[in-house]
Amino acid sequence: MLKNLQPKIMAIISDSDTSIDTRLKGICTLLKESVPYYDWVGFYFKNGDKEELKLGPFAGEPTDHTIISFGKGICGQVAVSNENFVVPDVKAQDNYIACSLNVKAEIVVPLFLKDKNIGQIDIDSNTPNPFTKEDEQFLEFVNREVAKMLE
Ligand code: SME
Repeated sequence: MLKNLQPKIMAIISDSDTSIDTRLKGICTLLKESVPYYDWVGFYFKNGDKEELKLGPFAGEPTDHTIISFGKGICGQVAVSNENFVVPDVKAQDNYIACSLNVKAEIVVPLFLKDKNIGQIDIDSNTPNPFTKEDEQFLEFVNREVAKMLE
């Protein structure tokens, strides 16, 4: 159950002796290690004043896609739509940026700080169609707590 991870997320976030990036990386590692169908977990953030996303802390294979223009790929679309994007089958998407040939599905949930979309959590899965409303609600919780840490 994803809900069981909530106290562990809170413990990482409240560890204020640790840098923000280390805490974000800790969340990525926790999620990747705890959820069998989370194969790559990362945060992207708006890159300063530019209309692009920059990769932040992540867990999983390194990706070439460290900068993604707004509108491009699933991530870039969420940067402008401000809405969750659940992709059950990445092959069915035209506007998709492939990071690994093993990836079958993806979920991206925007991260709001004071009502502004400042980034997102992005999860790739090697399992087809694994994501449910429970994942969306859980990742919204994660992002709300991350936003409080960034305030
Ligand atoms: N697949 C994403 C690109 C980022 S990687 O998944 C790490 C997209 O289409 O935006």
